[in-house]
Amino acid sequence: MSVTQELGANADAGGQDRTGVDGIRARKGGEPLVCLTAYTAPLAKFLDPHCDLLLVGDSLAMVVYGLETTRGVTLDIMIAHGQAVMRGSTRSCVVVDLPQGSYETSSHQAIASAARVLAETGCQAIKLEGGEEIAETVSAIVGAGIPVLGHVGLLPQKAEHRGAFKIQGRDDEGAKQVIADAKAIADAGAFAMVIEGTVEPVARDITELVPVPTIGIGASPACDGQILVTQDMVGLYAEFTPKFVKRYADLGQELQDAARSYAEDVRARRFPGLEHCYGVTQDKP
Ligand code: KIV
Repeated sequence: MSVTQELGANADAGGQDRTGVDGIRARKGGEPLVCLTAYTAPLAKFLDPHCDLLLVGDSLAMVVYGLETTRGVTLDIMIAHGQAVMRGSTRSCVVVDLPQGSYETSSHQAIASAARVLAETGCQAIKLEGGEEIAETVSAIVGAGIPVLGHVGLLPQKAEHRGAFKIQGRDDEGAKQVIADAKAIADAGAFAMVIEGTVEPVARDITELVPVPTIGIGASPACDGQILVTQDMVGLYAEFTPKFVKRYADLGQELQDAARSYAEDVRARRFPGLEHCYGVTQDKP
């Protein structure tokens, strides 16, 4: 019996309308997949109607917890955020990242971590980073009945500081390696893969070569889908904005404006007004 059978077939669980991994896989070459990261229930609720896939990415280490890289978040933290995103969504396929240190030691460790994530969050799949070197592990997790989203190209978990985030595939050798990585992950049974920070022609070639959907971030418009870190997309992460980000809103500025207005009102005793208080004569029951 596979892990997902034991856990109640989480691969396509979580509500009648929720997209499962089969629905994502079927989009190869079709309408582009819309994917964003989500970390909390309220955020997931806002994004869910517009997305095919919500990723509880370990980017939360940076954009939520203020760390310099994606290293340093634990499986427990990822599970807590995965639970929140499942609570806040009903239709998107939810994928939770396995954090650095939770799957590299052995297939046994990787299956145990992935099984915990599925059992404790009810999400549809896990994601892990790596190419040829991790293919055996991907195959073992898939063999245990747990759907895997691959992640090739730029691998943030390998970077010990922000300056180590380097675009991949710039020379012949690098290009061959990313292509070999993508093929290995597809052969290992991943239902789709993220291609991050990879030169456009290589990402385009991979999309033609592999039979599963590619989801680009800093990759190519030819990918079968696109993903952005939501905080980048809406201007809520000010530390660093990569070239591949398109900003669709400036919520950071709006938040600052709101905080300034609130502070002015409190200092001038304009807030709270009596309409915000209880037990005053015009109060409704
Ligand atoms: O952690 C993350 O948010 C990711 C995306 C950048 C794909 O892996």
